[in-house]
Amino acid sequence: MGWSAADIPNQQGRIALITGANSGLGLETARALKRCGATVVLACRSPRKAELAKQELLQERDGGAVDLVDLDLADLTSVEEAAATVGERYGCLDLLINNAGVMAPPRRTTAQGHELQFGVNHLGHMALTQALLPLMQNRPDPRVVTVTSGAQYFGKIRWDDPSWSKSYDRYGAYGQSKLANVMFALELDARLRKQGSPIRSLAAHPGIARTELQPTAIASVGNRFEALAYRLMDPLFQSAGMGALPQLHAATAATAQGGEHYGPEQFGGLRGAPALCRVAPAASQPAERQRLWSLSEQLIGG
Ligand SMILES: NC(=O)c1ccc[n+]([C@@H]2O[C@H](COP(=O)([O-])OP(=O)(O)OC[C@H]3O[C@@H](n4cnc5c(N)ncnc54)[C@H](OP(=O)(O)O)[C@@H]3O)[C@@H](O)[C@H]2O)c1
Repeated sequence: MGWSAADIPNQQGRIALITGANSGLGLETARALKRCGATVVLACRSPRKAELAKQELLQERDGGAVDLVDLDLADLTSVEEAAATVGERYGCLDLLINNAGVMAPPRRTTAQGHELQFGVNHLGHMALTQALLPLMQNRPDPRVVTVTSGAQYFGKIRWDDPSWSKSYDRYGAYGQSKLANVMFALELDARLRKQGSPIRSLAAHPGIARTELQPTAIASVGNRFEALAYRLMDPLFQSAGMGALPQLHAATAATAQGGEHYGPEQFGGLRGAPALCRVAPAASQPAERQRLWSLSEQLIGG
């Protein structure tokens, strides 16, 4: 039998911040960590949805506490404020799960003018991670897990136009953002190792899981063919609980190491229990990762 949520070690005394925790994989990740005793901080952009998720989690009386932090990854000012709130409230953090994501909307931009998927999925999470790392430094077994996707394998970084100001392609931009997620996770780990930091950075992808991601993508353009394609693929989709296992494994398994990437082991990485899996070729090239890091720092800073 493969690794399951029943294998998560005791999380009592640990504080875990999960982005996009009101829905899908984020909610299941919060549920599993809470069950094992962690205090879970749901970092969400909609206070109403966050409160509903909190009430749902609190229906199970056992386990850790649930807290809420406002976070809109499409606005770097909100990211800064969310990190400051966590610092003021807790002064420390054990686990950061960079889970929130948006897929294939019509072209939109963040408050700072970056293409929405690159901005939310990658730049917002990179800025959040950098702001929270100091809180993790002195904790036992601190980890950052960044959620990527099988879309990393077809993703390409558009070095000359990462914001897709020309010829926007909804899924091309999603692929870019998910490739950026795994490149960031691995480069962060390399940098932490070089500094002698105890913090580990890992990546995980869920295969394909039934969440709000695909319905939201379809609704954003109202394309009937796309809706039909997803309906035909539906039998392949696993539950959100199963989809959350790779990120839970990366976040909690004693055997998981910095720089690793987990995903489902069956059906070519679409379903099943978590296992180590290969990353997209660009993510295993240090020069490409460093290039993305420098570009992202410029975009976050400027
Ligand atoms: N489901 C899959 O098959 C699949 C496959 C590969 C990768 N993934 C990845 O898994 C992660 C979780 O997605 P999911 O499948 O669980 O989808 P989901 O149910 O749609 O959840 C996405 C979460 O991200 C939040 N979010 C979106 N934009 C945000 C922003 N600007 N600021 C803060 N939070 C924001 C959403 O908040 P709202 O509810 O307010 O919109 C929601 O909580 C994503 O990174 C996605 O790319 C999923």
